[in-house]
Amino acid sequence: MSKKLIHGLFDDDDILMDGVKAVRQKGYEIDEVYTPFPIHGLDKAMGLKPTRIAYASFAYGVFGLLFASWLTWYMMISDWPQNIGGKPNQTWLQNMLAFTPIMFELTVFMAAHLMVWTYFFKNKLYPGQKAGNPDPRTTDDMFMMEFIFEGDSTELESILKESGAVEVNVKEIKDTTGNQLWFKIPKTAVVLIFALSSLTSCSSSDEPQREPNTVYMPDMYYSVAYEPYSADPNGVDGMEARIPADNTIKRGYVPYEIPDTNEGYQEALDSLKSPIATTDETLKKGEYLYNIYCISCHGINGDGQGKLVQNEKYLGVPSYAPSRLPNITEGSIFHVETYGKNMMGSHASQLTSQERWKVAQHVLKLRSQLK
Ligand code: HEC
Repeated sequence: MSKKLIHGLFDDDDILMDGVKAVRQKGYEIDEVYTPFPIHGLDKAMGLKPTRIAYASFAYGVFGLLFASWLTWYMMISDWPQNIGGKPNQTWLQNMLAFTPIMFELTVFMAAHLMVWTYFFKNKLYPGQKAGNPDPRTTDDMFMMEFIFEGDSTELESILKESGAVEVNVKEIKDTTGNQLWFKIPKTAVVLIFALSSLTSCSSSDEPQREPNTVYMPDMYYSVAYEPYSADPNGVDGMEARIPADNTIKRGYVPYEIPDTNEGYQEALDSLKSPIATTDETLKKGEYLYNIYCISCHGINGDGQGKLVQNEKYLGVPSYAPSRLPNITEGSIFHVETYGKNMMGSHASQLTSQERWKVAQHVLKLRSQLK
């Protein structure tokens, strides 16, 4: 037997609600209701199953969290560990607090965005989709119940009329696959989405950009106050930053007189002695600092095989082994920590002189364990 498409039109949402209840009481299943605005409680009255999008959202959130964990681990721990603000940088767990904002943001981002896409696709709302609405009046001031019905529909039609339908239309469905309820993704829509996303993510030409980009928030970007190192017409010498008062040093600072030259290096190597004694406590502190500041290049054993070396981001890092560096002393280590050497940068701004001595103690300890 062929199927029929039955449309019952109403001109009032309260009457429609009562109609929905009456039809369902008689045991008829409603296929769809079209309304110009959301009607509270209609989903319940129609007997629609509650949405499971919350489960999808949870899964997307978990995915976002896992993705962020992997991303931060790969970028900051595995591929290119960096020493930022003296945070321990060798294990993901120790850094997790610093990564929390990223993890939080990606969790929310994935949950929200993927859920929106799921919602749109589930509801067949995507570019190029033809309106599934069989009667444009339902976008204006009419409400419509739709049934796909098989068999004798006279009872249903009379129930609809009794419950206040202003119009009941019955149509034969010839080709059952041709009605508007079928889900088809137009190819153009897919192509369009991909084209748009690639357009927004990269520029298609190799030409240098002729026009500068637009400042997003000029009132935040251009500070009203003078910036620390900018020119300041009211400042001393026309500068915002001031030179420290004569004959003053910052708290805890110990001047280092040996110059950053080859002769200076030799002098430190030959005659510079640590002002602090080596104790368990200073060694422990030295190890702790070494594991933050030096390990990514020099490796945990001092064999010159840190993560950055293994990943070939940084080359030429020597092992501390006596066979490789036969002559180094606590003085020369301190000197190198202070000024850096060739590819190795200075650590004087990150470690106080006391701390540099303690790290040097740990380097000597590692060295004694290497061949
Ligand atoms: C970014 C990578 C990197 C970091 C971080 C780093 N080093 Fe180095 N270090 C090097 C390289 C490269 C050399 C080899 C320099 C040369 O001789 O050309 C080197 C050399 C040395 C030497 C031998 C210098 C000599 O006398 O020949 C010592 C000692 C040393 N580093 C100690 C340290 C200590 C202690 C730390 C932590 C405070 C540290 N390094 C952090 C890359 C690094």
